[in-house]
Amino acid sequence: MSLEKTISHEQPFLMNSVSRNTSAEETLLAKSMESPGCLTHEELCALLAFENTDALFEAAYRLKCRLLGRKVALRGIVEMGNVCAKDCYYCGIRRGNPNVKRYQLSEDDVVRMARWCYDMEYGSVVLQSGELESEAHTEFIERIIRRIHDFGGDSFSITLSLGEQSEEVYRRWLEAGAHRYLLRIETSNPALYAKLHPADHSHSRRMECLRVLKRLGYQTGSGVMIGLPGQTLDDLADDIAFFRDMDLDMIGMGPYLPHRDTPLGRDIELTLEYAAKQLKLGLKMIAVTRLYLHDVNIAATTALQALDERGREQGLLAGANVMMPNATDTEYRRNYQLYENKPCLDENSRKCRNCLNWRVIAIGERIAWGVRGDSPHFTNNHRRPII
Ligand code: 5AD
Ligand code: FES
Repeated sequence: MSLEKTISHEQPFLMNSVSRNTSAEETLLAKSMESPGCLTHEELCALLAFENTDALFEAAYRLKCRLLGRKVALRGIVEMGNVCAKDCYYCGIRRGNPNVKRYQLSEDDVVRMARWCYDMEYGSVVLQSGELESEAHTEFIERIIRRIHDFGGDSFSITLSLGEQSEEVYRRWLEAGAHRYLLRIETSNPALYAKLHPADHSHSRRMECLRVLKRLGYQTGSGVMIGLPGQTLDDLADDIAFFRDMDLDMIGMGPYLPHRDTPLGRDIELTLEYAAKQLKLGLKMIAVTRLYLHDVNIAATTALQALDERGREQGLLAGANVMMPNATDTEYRRNYQLYENKPCLDENSRKCRNCLNWRVIAIGERIAWGVRGDSPHFTNNHRRPII
């Protein structure tokens, strides 16, 4: 069974009415560029359904250039380990996948890769791994954060992407020197979330974690998967409204990509047609999110590149302003495949750095080397940590 069929049976994207009236489209784009948060749910849906994607992407890119300049901020990603306590139905490193060779980087290795990001002027490192909750894990991360903070200080941003944790753990990591936290809500629709996860995975706990992270003073990022089976344009419009309601500083979202070793992906064929549709929807989400939120950081994620060699550049030209090059040693990359077709599996970090630099230059932008790249949204509304 192809996902095309699943989607069209359940909740066809095309069911939403598409305005073909050019001047109405222009009016809506002009309105969205004027001030943030001024669109209704119906208008968000209409933008997501725009057929004239060139005009949509152009407007979002123009707005991004006006607010953030023609520059791209980098965050090097260190994939620390693929051992995961969660069993999400879409994810290749889910606990229940016996075909994954599990690994865990040592403290020294993680610090070395983070140091490389610092020396290469990435300005920021993201520490990502499967979701684990234990005192040993908390202390392990705490030691790593302290060591990175020792050489990087507060001008080198430490971002954590380590899943749901208790308030106490988030607080300890913040005190150790972390600055940012990424925790994707995956979908803002609790009913859809329930279909994509086992019963003991809780949407409300994830929401609560996001609230705690913000209250503690982290620069907080979240995001969703786009083009999930059963997801509608209404859901995606709600996701964008959710980003605003949560007052997020950064958005990291990308198209859903099937993985054959997962319950959700096993019957989906990654055809060219499917890839094109997922890419287009992913780019539209970036553009509409930029047009609605204005001054947040939005990542052109690797999942876009899995669908098209130039997927990330297209993401930048649709309004994204952040890229996240892989800074993990090549030997581990193959074992960290959340989805299939993951790019750069055989590349090394230096090659990815050069590649990215030229790709950014080729679209007329430049990389902002050696700066943290905080979003104006965060800088302008700087929340003081309560610790
Ligand atoms: N396709 C796209 N994104 C995925 N993620 C996990 N599995 C997939 C997949 N099959 C994303 C989730 C998670 C992030 C680390 O990777 O959104 O939060
Ligand atoms: Fe890795 Fe291009 S980003 S080779």
